[in-house]
Amino acid sequence: MCGIVGVVSSQNVNEKLFKGLANLEYRGYDSVGMCFLTNNKFNIKKGVGKLEEVHKKLDFLNSSGSIGIGHCRWSTHGGVTKKNAHPHVDCGNRISVVHNGIIENYSELKDELIKKGHKFYSQTDTEVIAHLIEDNLRNNGIEEAVRVSLNKIEGSYALGILFADEPDKLIGARNESPLIVGLGDKENFIASDVPSILSYTNKIIYLEDKEIVVLTKNSHKVIGLDGKEIIKKINTINWSAEAAEKGGYGHFMMKEIHEQPVAIANTLNERLRNGNVQFEKEFGLSDDYLRKVKRIVIVACGTSWHAGLVGEFMLEELARIPTEVEYASEFRYRHPILDKDTLVIAISQSGETADTISALKEAKKYGVKTLAICNVMGSSITRISDGVIYTRAGPEIGVASTKAFTTQLAVLYLLTIKLSKLRKTLNEKQIRDMISGIRKIPLQLQSVLDEDTEILKCAEFFSNKPNSIYLGRGVNFPIALEGALKLKEVSYIHAEGYPAAEMKHGPIALIDKNMPVFFIAPHDIFTYKKVLGNIEEVKARGGMIFAVATEGDKEIPKKAKRTIFIPKTLYTLSSILASVPLQLLAYHIAEKLGRDVDRPRSLAKTVTVE
Ligand code: F6R
Repeated sequence: MCGIVGVVSSQNVNEKLFKGLANLEYRGYDSVGMCFLTNNKFNIKKGVGKLEEVHKKLDFLNSSGSIGIGHCRWSTHGGVTKKNAHPHVDCGNRISVVHNGIIENYSELKDELIKKGHKFYSQTDTEVIAHLIEDNLRNNGIEEAVRVSLNKIEGSYALGILFADEPDKLIGARNESPLIVGLGDKENFIASDVPSILSYTNKIIYLEDKEIVVLTKNSHKVIGLDGKEIIKKINTINWSAEAAEKGGYGHFMMKEIHEQPVAIANTLNERLRNGNVQFEKEFGLSDDYLRKVKRIVIVACGTSWHAGLVGEFMLEELARIPTEVEYASEFRYRHPILDKDTLVIAISQSGETADTISALKEAKKYGVKTLAICNVMGSSITRISDGVIYTRAGPEIGVASTKAFTTQLAVLYLLTIKLSKLRKTLNEKQIRDMISGIRKIPLQLQSVLDEDTEILKCAEFFSNKPNSIYLGRGVNFPIALEGALKLKEVSYIHAEGYPAAEMKHGPIALIDKNMPVFFIAPHDIFTYKKVLGNIEEVKARGGMIFAVATEGDKEIPKKAKRTIFIPKTLYTLSSILASVPLQLLAYHIAEKLGRDVDRPRSLAKTVTVE
């Protein structure tokens, strides 16, 4: 996820680009760049770091030009370097491009262009676009060259493009990555979101997939990839700037909960191929090594530790590798027993959690191989580990982790497929079923999000109760823990998660008519019937029962006060779908109680102290 902004105006655009990027920094902040066009020449300033840091060195505001584009980066292809920062240019330095998205066929296109003599300077997929347009510009005008080029590109993009020889025109295009057009007074804009330009105009055109916009300071024209002009509706936006930054949601947490279908789709993107899982070269662990691993130890904290517990279930159940999950803070002080056949996996959204870094360093002392599952490119944990699998959740701003958690589960599931296939613990049909199961998850998540009204009704019952209990079994026991943690963090209501059957060994004494009990009870062949029994036990003691169940379940709604349904899926994947109602429940309860949902008391997004 990156942010892009572009302006064509009758005045200097430096401040508008700068402020636009400052508002877009939530989308990515590993590097930043701008391109101004003056006297048919590009002035490109770019560097590694956050906008303010790079600005201190390059002084973006000391630049002039009445047309420009800017970009803040969240790396996907190519490391965090100045060379890989946007904008990218063609061989002749006459075309400048900023991009958000992933060009899936970039390596084929790059090979073709190299054969034709194009020289590449970065490792990004984006640079291909500049050279492809350059190539097509030989026989076409600029609009046509962009259109012909985009017809050859597969993947997602939001683009801002400048041509040194057409200094009045700014071109934008979108496919599966957001791009809006802002219409101002003698100036026009493109941007990744509305808030970044809302101080300058509230007249907005929403581009659809496969649309190109050509802007001058006084005109706009939208065409399709077939070249036909499209008449677009101009919308007037009435959001306050703050509401707009959150995409119209009340809080970042809610926005991020709703981003999960896209986040999971991005996490799967390009990794499921030919009935197998392929990670990028950063994965760094050979098939030979993975076949020989005898044991896995997962280290993590908080929500990431819960993801580790789900991973343990998947890795043992399907790949048949003995797995242990350790609190990173405990692991480092315990003289762990590790040998060369043990793989240590660190899970961390931020990649900067002090305890997880220390645990990883401790593990490395034993000479074991280490793998990071992480959301932030180039973070400390990714640099220390032998290999990395990135969750591609995009920046998570809300302190309570939501989309980072479910993308961690998706990555652990992909890793399980890879290991199961390599170690032949599952047959081809089982692998195919696992792959088709996860492919359906983004769409199924959308239907879980649509249950929000029902979840809001559950929140009514919880918000005036001081305690609550979450119960689940098997792969959904960690989801009970995570549900309880979400509620504690954002609402400050005391909540506990237990394996459903363990409740009889003590916690059942807490159950009375004032105790809401939330069962995570999707249908499965292992424990479903036992969970029904556990529900009866709670009911017999007057507890208030709520449940997540599989669509079509007739039994649970008879026993529960309210039931949230999730679509049918494989048992292991029910953990991803069942997480979302619990996130929404915690959010609604906290909101009802007037809590500071995005910044709960005493919590920090990244815990960089031990
Ligand atoms: C809870 C939450 C925390 C983090 C924990 C580890 O919602 O976000 O429990 O999971 O602080 O952080 P990372 O994953 O960045 O290592």
